Amino acid sequence: MRQLIGADPGTPGGPGTLEWLAEAYAYPDGGRWLRANMVTSLDGAARLDGLSEGLSGEADKRIFGVLRALCDVVLVGAETVRAEGYRPGRARAEFAERRAAAGQLPAPVIAVVTRSLDLDLSAPLFTEPLVPTVVVTTVDAPPDRLARTAERADVITAGTGSVDLPRAVAALTERGWRRQLSEGGPRLLGQLAAEGLLDELCLSVAPLVTAGDSPRIVNGPQIPHVRPMRLVSLIEQKGFLFTRYLRATDPDRSPNDHDLTGDAS
Ligand SMILES: NC(=O)c1ccc[n+]([C@@H]2O[C@H](COP(=O)([O-])OP(=O)(O)OC[C@H]3O[C@@H](n4cnc5c(N)ncnc54)[C@H](OP(=O)(O)O)[C@@H]3O)[C@@H](O)[C@H]2O)c1
Repeated sequence: MRQLIGADPGTPGGPGTLEWLAEAYAYPDGGRWLRANMVTSLDGAARLDGLSEGLSGEADKRIFGVLRALCDVVLVGAETVRAEGYRPGRARAEFAERRAAAGQLPAPVIAVVTRSLDLDLSAPLFTEPLVPTVVVTTVDAPPDRLARTAERADVITAGTGSVDLPRAVAALTERGWRRQLSEGGPRLLGQLAAEGLLDELCLSVAPLVTAGDSPRIVNGPQIPHVRPMRLVSLIEQKGFLFTRYLRATDPDRSPNDHDLTGDAS
């Protein structure tokens, strides 16, 4: 693994090590920060044969694991949970000290966004989590399903008809989970982006051309006021590119104007 653009945290061992990646992808100090982590093919597919797995690779999985280990909460759409058979977050020994020092729970909380509450409550995500799984739904969700879900999960309600994502994100922040990570899927990410909630996008580009009818990694109506993002890090391994883009704070900034300091302010 080699870093082509971005600040080198100088951790011994370089970009391939967990220590280096943990420093390079550290959340900024301060308030709530929502990062999304997604993988795409060269031609923009968000899935291959129905899953993201076919687009991923060894280094992508390594970075995926580090980003999970750094966050307080993973925000994910119910379709991704159903399609990919989501399991609870793990406590990883390599990150135990770091998480304890940061006042974090031993494992990230998985927060599932759903309108239907069509979730398999007998799955390990609800029966074996190290930290309780959160279900984020609407105030008018089906009452019987809501009652059953509340027996197995910490339920947050925000919005009627559709989850009000700014309120949902605020509710997660109020629980003390300011380091937020969205793992998609594309439809949830489309809304997070449209609501202006996305501070950072970590996009892995797989060296594959797939065609097909897969959606892009952000799926939804066109965002009314498209703003450039700025590139702060680019890592390469075996033809995969691992990009890290931050929300541009200066609207006059060119999208090609990357900041070599990696300063997230
Ligand atoms: N390339 C990647 O990095 C990546 C990452 C993740 C997933 N994926 C792939 O993407 C596919 C799934 O993504 P997707 O875009 O179809 O679905 P998704 O975003 O994972 O989930 C959509 C579902 O989330 C719930 N939801 C989203 N926004 C909501 C809102 N505002 N209010 C209430 N509920 C809301 C609804 O659940 P209910 O239906 O339960 O109401 C909706 O059907 C899978 O094939 C997966 O493998 C790829």
